[in-house]
Amino acid sequence: MKTAITEMFGIEHPIIQGGMHYVGFAEMAAAVSNAGGLGIITGLTQGTPEKLANEIARCKDMTDKPFGVNLTILPTLTPPDYPGLVKAIIDGGVKVVETAGRNPIDLLPPLKDAGIKVIHKCTSVRHALKAQEIGCDAVSVDGFECGGHPGEDDVPNFILLPRAADELEIPFVSSGGMADGRSLVASLAMGAQGMNMGTRFIATKEAPVHDNVKQAILAASELDTRLIMRPLRNTERVLTNPAVERLIAKEKALGDAITFEDIVEEVAGVYPSIMIEGDMDKGAWSCGMVAGLIHDIPTCKELIDRIMRQAEEIIARMQAMARA
Ligand SMILES: Cc1cc2nc3c(=O)[nH]c(=O)nc-3n(C[C@H](O)[C@H](O)[C@H](O)COP(=O)(O)O)c2cc1C
Repeated sequence: MKTAITEMFGIEHPIIQGGMHYVGFAEMAAAVSNAGGLGIITGLTQGTPEKLANEIARCKDMTDKPFGVNLTILPTLTPPDYPGLVKAIIDGGVKVVETAGRNPIDLLPPLKDAGIKVIHKCTSVRHALKAQEIGCDAVSVDGFECGGHPGEDDVPNFILLPRAADELEIPFVSSGGMADGRSLVASLAMGAQGMNMGTRFIATKEAPVHDNVKQAILAASELDTRLIMRPLRNTERVLTNPAVERLIAKEKALGDAITFEDIVEEVAGVYPSIMIEGDMDKGAWSCGMVAGLIHDIPTCKELIDRIMRQAEEIIARMQAMARA
């Protein structure tokens, strides 16, 4: 399938694996890229520019296909070494960067000078238009369904994607709630040029996380995610567990008086224990409502081939319906 996104990124299929904290290691990105999609290493998970450079080199050993690096811009008091991370990306010869979080304007000049394509992930039409205005090449439009940070507007993809299509001139991919060929065809119908998946890619053979994480996604239904940190305007969609329910009880009890310190135990630094050691009740971890559509653990190639086959079958069926 050829779309503006496959052309822009030099990939075979219009499918992207979004950056994921403690999931987006070289093994994940290489498996997706080798299957014809665009795999993405999560920059901040690596920690330092040196470690990111090492991860990029490891990924290059595992694939000769294009892959990207995610740079999430967080509201923190002690920001990561973004200039150093950008330099590691440029020196490593990476051709695509996925930005997310805040406005990436400060990161753009060195990336653009190095000929790197930037796709900014955002959760509203106004932020997508801002990304277009400041020179991003594409946008990933992340609906309310998504695992991770859906923003504060709560607009699901059946509204958000056509709204983005009506306003944007640069190409965009859908993100949030995407799982299969139906998701891809629906995304294309609503004006996207491809789709981005997070949660679905965690439940694959190559995802470098503990098997407990994959089994938790398989066991979950679409009713099992919760929104946390809304009072802090840092809403995150996570899978429910005792730590999450404890956190929600604190939010209810403290109301608008709640601070980050009140929930630090449930959210700060919990990813290594969950993703690497499989300690599933350690704290809150991002997961999309799409868990309700995930029932198996295929290889990335099996998953992507299946999506493309199903998408082609649906398109053929629709063409026959239109002609009848
Ligand atoms: C476990 C997990 C960790 C994530 N970490 C990040 C991150 O560090 N930076 C980022 O931009 N997005 C992150 N995301 C969001 C994904 O890149 C993607 O936008 C989202 O998962 C799409 O929704 P879906 O899960 O319904 O496919 C994360 C998602 C998950 C499930």
